[in-house]
Parts: sequence; C-alpha cells; structure tokens
Amino acid sequence: MMSEVNNIEVISDQLGDQKLSKEVNNDVNGDEDKVDPWNVCSNSATGVDYDKLIVRFGCSKLTDDILQRMETLTNQRVHHFLRRKIFFSHRDLHVILKRYEEKQPFFLYTGRGPSSSALHLGHLIPFIFTKWLQETFNVPLVIQMTDDEKYLWKGLSIDEIKKATKENIKDIIAMGFDVNKTFIFSDLSFIGKCPAFYENIIKVQRSVTFNQVKGIFGFGDSDCIGKIGFPAIQAAPSFSSSFPFIFKEKKDIPVLIPCAIDQDPYFRMTRDVAPKLSKPKPALIHSTFLPALTGAQTKMSASDPNNSIFLTDSANQIKNKINRYAFSGGGATIDEHRANGGNCDIDIAFQYLKFFLEDDNRLEQYRTDYSSGQLLTGDLKKELIGIIQKIVSQHQENRKKVTDEMVDQFMALRNLNF
Ligand code: TYM
Repeated sequence: MMSEVNNIEVISDQLGDQKLSKEVNNDVNGDEDKVDPWNVCSNSATGVDYDKLIVRFGCSKLTDDILQRMETLTNQRVHHFLRRKIFFSHRDLHVILKRYEEKQPFFLYTGRGPSSSALHLGHLIPFIFTKWLQETFNVPLVIQMTDDEKYLWKGLSIDEIKKATKENIKDIIAMGFDVNKTFIFSDLSFIGKCPAFYENIIKVQRSVTFNQVKGIFGFGDSDCIGKIGFPAIQAAPSFSSSFPFIFKEKKDIPVLIPCAIDQDPYFRMTRDVAPKLSKPKPALIHSTFLPALTGAQTKMSASDPNNSIFLTDSANQIKNKINRYAFSGGGATIDEHRANGGNCDIDIAFQYLKFFLEDDNRLEQYRTDYSSGQLLTGDLKKELIGIIQKIVSQHQENRKKVTDEMVDQFMALRNLNF
C-alpha cells in the first residue's frame, strides 16, 4: 500500500534530500501556492486554490453527501462553516461518522502555538468550529498548547512563551468550552506529568526518519535539532493512550482533528506512523484560511499587525483597520462600480462576511447587490465593522470573567464526562 508520505520519500530517494527540501519549501513550480505550517502564500488575488491543494496533499473534498449524512445523523443543520465550505476537506471523516452512528466513542483534538499573547480572528475559526463539534457530538476535547514549538521557532524566552500560553488559554476558555469535557495542556508542563504522553512521543520519533521529516517539513542542515523532533510532539495527542487519566485502558479511541489546512503535514506524518504503532489513524477536517486584510494572497497572521484584527483590538482600531486596509473588489470609481459591479471573490469585506455573518439570506443579498454594483465597498465594510466589533467586544467581556482558577481547572489531569 502506498504510504501518505511515500510519494515524497520516492522523490527524496531519486533527488537526494537537499533538492527535496527545496521542492517542498520553495515552490519549485512558480505558480504553485505555498501552504505549510509556517507560510501561506499565493500569487492569485482569490487566494489559495484549495481544489488543487486537495489533490497535492492527497486529502478528500468535503462533499454535499457527507454534509447531508452529518445532518441526518445529528438531526440538525450543519454549521455555516460547513454549508459555505469554509471547512472544505477531510481525511477519514466517514470513519468518525460511522462510529458516531454505532454509538462508539471518539474524541476531538486541536491546538494553538502561543507565539503572541493575543489571538487574531483567524485563530478563532478552528476553535469556533471545534466548539460546535463538541456540542453537536457531545465528545471530549483535548487542546494542545505547543509552547515548546514556539520556543524553538520564535526566538522568545521561556518566560515570554509561558506568559503568552496563559493569555491564549484564557482566550480559548472565553470561547465557551465545557470544562467537564475539555482538557487543555501545555507541552512544557504536561510532558513531565504524564509518562504515557512522552512514551507516545518517542514511539513516533523512532518510527520517522530524518529523511522523512526533511521531506515533509523541509528542515535543513542548519535547523536546530529541537525542530526535527518536534513533529512527534504534535502527533502524540492524536492517540487516546496519551491521556490515560481520560481514556483509562481504552487505547484505541480514534480522534477527529479540526484545523486549518496548514497543519496537515503534521498529521500526514501521524497517519503514516499510526498503523506501525498499532494505533488508529487520526481523522481530520480542514478549513480554508481567513485571509489577511490586504488580500487573499496570504492568511491573517499575528506577525503583521496591520493585516490582522486581534481579539484585543478596540472598536475604533477594528473600524480603522477595516476601512484603511481591507482590500476592495469594487470599481476604481463609483461610476465604474455602479456600471460593472464588484468582485466578491477578491473583496476582503465580503470574504470576512462569509466567515462571520451567519444569516445565509443576508449574505446572498450582499453578494447579489455588491456584484451588481448596487452596494459599494463602503457599505460592505460598514456591515462587517459592526459584526466584528460585536464579536470582539463580546469576546472581551467573556474573557474578563476567566480567572486563574478556571485555567487551573481546564489544565488539571482528570477524568472527563463523555
Ligand atoms: P497556530 O497557533 O498557528 O494556529 C492555531 C489554529 O488556527 C489555525 N489558523 C487559521 N485558521 C484560519 N485562518 C487563519 N488565518 C489561521 N491562522 C491559523 C491553525 O491552522 C490552527 O488550527 N502547531 C499549531 C498548534 C497545534 C495544533 C494542533 C493546531 C498543536 N496541535 C492540532 C491544530 C491541531 C500552531 O502553531 O497553530
């Protein structure tokens, strides 16, 4: 059977490691989008070509059939992120749905790399969706804070990373996860407390060669050795045996991992090693990226403050950023816009409305009226500003109520209700 990283290995054997790293990292093919855990960029104003990415990554398109099956099984409408194909791709989702149908347990796993103390709107996407999955399927959830990853990659001190981790955990708790079903852990503190987690890490590390991680992640000779071993640490929470205090002797409960598609390389690797360790392969459900304010060529990212809206931004900052930076798909002049209409596919205000305006009818009305030229970019931006200001101020209110004790409760090693 062809392994999920095998195609890369074959190229590796033929070309040698050096060339392979270049191929994975530097877009040998100039018009190919670049999507990996550290970079997302496209030459196209409409952003990443997700259909091509599905083929390149070897995952599966989230079809209407599978969404229909989800609705039948759960007896409710799927989330608007699914209806609008914001979550657009998966690996083995049908395996998870089948288990649900058979009343067999599964769990959810997602995470955050605490590189800065404020989350941006893009980070909300997988967490909003994970919360919906948790509520819809009534399943336990583990959330990994990869403080070790950010220490290795970002040049920050351990103290800075620990501070960011705590701030990020408060933001995650403020999103409303159920403490009885959610375990949040930071790698730096959890590894010492749970031998079973470290055992799984080294099992993965023994099963993956340096050649393979070079092929998957593009690591080079000058990367520190911590980076080379790290993918095993993001892989290990995919296995229920990493959390004996939750799953007890049940070592084979499968996981569903919601994340944006940039995290897929970690789990391609995990899926490849799982059978070697007699563990179930993790299933995944992938989202597209919330684009940067200045255009869909890149994703919203914490490293560029003017391109991102943070959960700490004031109402005024949100208004100014959207008005000043959100790329417009409208005409150059009002007359031109009225005559030719706007292009929703590249208009950032419209793209954000797709993520954050829940009412399907209103969204379609905006699409029609903007495309026909009846609505101007300013009108779309005004609507968006109101919606985002409300989401962010509500989040800030919720976050004020999150105490240090609540953080300790979510992070305590304990049984979960499921
Ligand atoms: P991090 O902190 O870069 O991102 C956290 C989560 O947010 C997603 N994401 C986005 N989604 C939509 N639009 C965007 N603009 C955007 N930017 C980031 C990421 O895909 C991710 O799901 N190594 C990981 C932490 C991690 C993890 C995991 C993530 C550890 N285990 C399991 C997902 C699943 C990281 O640094 O994520």
